[in-house]
Amino acid sequence: AGPVTVLGLESSCDDTAAAVLRGGPGGPEILANIVIGQTDLHAGYGGVVPEIAARAHAEKLDIVVERALAEARLSLKRIDAIAVTAGPGLIGGVMAGVMLAKGLAASTGKPMIGVNHLAGHALTPRLTDRVDFPYLMLLVSGGHCQFLLVEGAEQFTRLGGTIDDAPGEAFDKVAKLLGLGQPGGPLVEAEARAGDPKRFKLPRPLLDRPDCDMSFSGLKTAVLRSRDALCTAQGGLYAQDRADLCAGFQAAMADVLAEKTRRALVKTGAPMLAVAGGVAANQVLRARLEQVAANAEARFVAPPLKLCTDNAAMIAWAGLERLRAGGRDDMSLAARPRWPL
Ligand code: KG4
Ligand code: ZN
Repeated sequence: AGPVTVLGLESSCDDTAAAVLRGGPGGPEILANIVIGQTDLHAGYGGVVPEIAARAHAEKLDIVVERALAEARLSLKRIDAIAVTAGPGLIGGVMAGVMLAKGLAASTGKPMIGVNHLAGHALTPRLTDRVDFPYLMLLVSGGHCQFLLVEGAEQFTRLGGTIDDAPGEAFDKVAKLLGLGQPGGPLVEAEARAGDPKRFKLPRPLLDRPDCDMSFSGLKTAVLRSRDALCTAQGGLYAQDRADLCAGFQAAMADVLAEKTRRALVKTGAPMLAVAGGVAANQVLRARLEQVAANAEARFVAPPLKLCTDNAAMIAWAGLERLRAGGRDDMSLAARPRWPL
């Protein structure tokens, strides 16, 4: 089989994305990877507003496809297949993507593949590195937090995950309650550099439970209580207080994720640990996970940040893996707001 060129589409949350990926004997090659974010559109609402997101996706999808094809220097005729995120996510955005994919597939006569967004994240290590099955994936983003044992392109076992907030969501909420901007993760990490992680005694939720489930909403509430206690006692927060709270929160987060990752590696005996999701950008967390992997004699793979966060190259790649396994969808492909792996 010669090289196969796949157009990928992603519109399940607050990024509108298109990518062109070529799969050949030498491994996959990303020819274009275009992402238009919506952070500014949702600023001031305290989260992603589904209606605003859906409208922006409907407006921007054509543009990202056009840009991706231009950057890849390919016309639509040269695309062999179209991969699209069919869920899980905000239904309006997912529908906009699926409808565009159907239109493109119908007009070109090329196969269309519906991709699970989580599978896209989970298969990314195979796009960026030479990675064989099986491996353990820790997905940590603003919307997701779970351990997956990946044994094949369509073979995922969920080992546990958060029972409430996702880690990125907790970082964002802590940033908000400390008066920092959004997205909060990078700002909390920067503040934490000047902080003492031991000053505040913050909880490590669910560490007493032997499974791989996690909980972060109580941790966020503990930061809120510490903040309020300081405000009452001294009339406000000093810069050092803020830094110490950020450092304490980040350390608690890293402790929980590291320990649960250690257990997941023991349980599965996986020879490799991979991470994906925006929170994987956190240097403190990354260093801890690297150590956990080394202790378990497992390889550690963290894809470059641009491929850790939401993008369409991972969707094109997951689509190509499905296509190679003989999968494809027809015009009955439905957008699924919920779609567990
Ligand atoms: O994967 P992503 O781009 O979007 C989805 O959630 O789908 O992840 C975004 C999340 C945000 O919550 C952001 O605050 C967090 O990742 N994040 C970080 C860091 N950079 C981004 N969290 C902690 N430390 C960071 N350096
Ligand atoms: Zn995502």
